[in-house]
Amino acid sequence: MAILGATGAVGTRMIQQLAASTIPVAKLKLLASQRSAGKVLTFKDQQVTVEEAKPESFTGVDIVLASAGGSVSKKFLPEAVKRGAVCVDNTSAFRMEPDVPLVVPEVNENVLPRHHGIIANPNCSTIMMMVALEPIRQAVGLKQIIVSTYQAASGAGQSALNELYSEAQDYLDHKDMQATIFPTKGEPKHYPLAFNLLPQIDVLEDNYYSHEEWKMIHETKKIMLNDMDAPDIKVTATCVRVPVPISHGESVWIDTGDPDATVDELRAAIDAAPGVVLQDDPAHQVYPQPINATGKRETFVGRIRADLENPGAFNLWIVSDNLLKGAAWNTVQIAERLVAQKLV
Ligand code: A2P
Repeated sequence: MAILGATGAVGTRMIQQLAASTIPVAKLKLLASQRSAGKVLTFKDQQVTVEEAKPESFTGVDIVLASAGGSVSKKFLPEAVKRGAVCVDNTSAFRMEPDVPLVVPEVNENVLPRHHGIIANPNCSTIMMMVALEPIRQAVGLKQIIVSTYQAASGAGQSALNELYSEAQDYLDHKDMQATIFPTKGEPKHYPLAFNLLPQIDVLEDNYYSHEEWKMIHETKKIMLNDMDAPDIKVTATCVRVPVPISHGESVWIDTGDPDATVDELRAAIDAAPGVVLQDDPAHQVYPQPINATGKRETFVGRIRADLENPGAFNLWIVSDNLLKGAAWNTVQIAERLVAQKLV
């Protein structure tokens, strides 16, 4: 196996998740840029030296897990496929291509056999929403989703997380905060995230949506409509970066289309579903929080309540570790399913 982007915020967690997975790994290659070549990382009890990624690096590799950015995936994954590898890609490079399955194993594992060498991991915010909403869709229905995200700094990578910490330190030291990364590297202006909120994730597009919002809308439709054969679902999203290190939150309004649906039915559906944990006890102030979700593979759901003005509609609050279920764990989980289904 090979991990492309092994030194990053997601890549280092892919190493940990792979070590804890059911996949029998005979040999692991850790690939990154030239900057990290020679660095030594630990996989299980072995010391593995990081190599600079090159097309030849993929010779003899069965499975590639990639999280080194879209342009790096575009450059190397076709080379890996040419050499016989199956790639699970955490970037957005191939997600919307029709012959690339976009997979959340708890939801649409059934599409894995359609792969042609590349399987895409959805966007972190889409994954956690799918894990939480698919059991509700199956139990009572799903006609519309309105989501506002509260996305952690680490979603923009290790350097972005480091920038949040240094900004926070500068703020407390009464120094000017130096913003160079947020809201996104591709834009001319940068703003501090510490003690702030940024209603922009990824670039802003011509229709005034951010690309992150576009991803949530279109990835949800690809998964639920194409793969699960759901009737049309309307989706809209507002994505906000918050000064939380790890774990995203989502405030989600849904219309189930069933005016008789109850909170208890939604709770029961979530309670019975894989990969999702009901954390909803208002009497004891129990609800999901990023600080508690960090380091966990599951997605947590709470604050489920009926919309008092719209029968069949509900509000809920979802939290998940964006680096694990949103990225590294979902990728390793897809690889586990590929191995179990003998698709590599
Ligand atoms: P490196 O550490 O050598 O820069 P993050 O998402 O946390 O920013 O991490 C990005 C990951 O992608 C890192 O492992 C980084 O390696 C890797 N990466 C960046 N550019 C390239 C490249 N051109 N080729 C291979 N890996 C790359």
